[in-house]
Amino acid sequence: MKIVSVRDYDDMSRKAANIISAQVILEPACTLGLATGTTPIGCYKQLIKWYEKGDVDFAEVSTYNLDEYRGLTHSDPQSYHYFMRDVFFDHINIDLARTHVPDGSNPDAEAACAEYDRIVREAGYVDLQLLGIGRNGHIGFNEPDEVFSKGTHCVDLTPSTIEANSRLFERAEDVPRQAYTMGVQTIMQARRILILASGSDKAQAVHDMCYGPVTPNVPASILQLHTNCIVVADEAALELCPKA
Ligand code: F6R
Repeated sequence: MKIVSVRDYDDMSRKAANIISAQVILEPACTLGLATGTTPIGCYKQLIKWYEKGDVDFAEVSTYNLDEYRGLTHSDPQSYHYFMRDVFFDHINIDLARTHVPDGSNPDAEAACAEYDRIVREAGYVDLQLLGIGRNGHIGFNEPDEVFSKGTHCVDLTPSTIEANSRLFERAEDVPRQAYTMGVQTIMQARRILILASGSDKAQAVHDMCYGPVTPNVPASILQLHTNCIVVADEAALELCPKA
């Protein structure tokens, strides 16, 4: 794991955007694994700015998102389909047909997950996977568990994740209780992983991810075993880690 320590959220966002745009410049037809949540928004904003300046071109890029709430239609403003268009895809020249998000509107969990696994597998997995980290060490919606998950599957969200996500919903009871998520094994197939963390509420998770034992109880800890994983974290998120 390569840990890049940055000042704050804006610095993290620019560094992450630099890594992603370098990937796209070097391999215009690359595959990117993308995340939602608060953490990558600044990175997406920076990429949009560089796209507008003509510095980066997404015409040939394909994207594969990590997860989606079960039971939300693609046009639901709380869905990750909507989020990705709203914060990123509608502002760049990506071909929407090349963007992929698990189909939360399909109530048949087994079929929806198997279909997404097929899509990601046939794409040959991703060149660069962008991740955020949950306060409990989750990646995607892979929550702490007894075993590491494999392919895309349906999960029951933990009370802590429901609580963390409730800030984005009008009422806590509106937060979906289930989601479809890429599994840990699928995430580990990415050729390169870029995980971002900002803020002291992520400090314990970042410490355990980088310095704790590799355990499904902290799903992100498996990234220690990935041969090409970059952690870009700000000072607050690194406050429990040994100083470099
Ligand atoms: C989102 C995702 C989640 C988030 C994590 C952190 O697609 O996969 O694992 O990355 O919950 O969320 P934020 O960035 O909102 O703190």
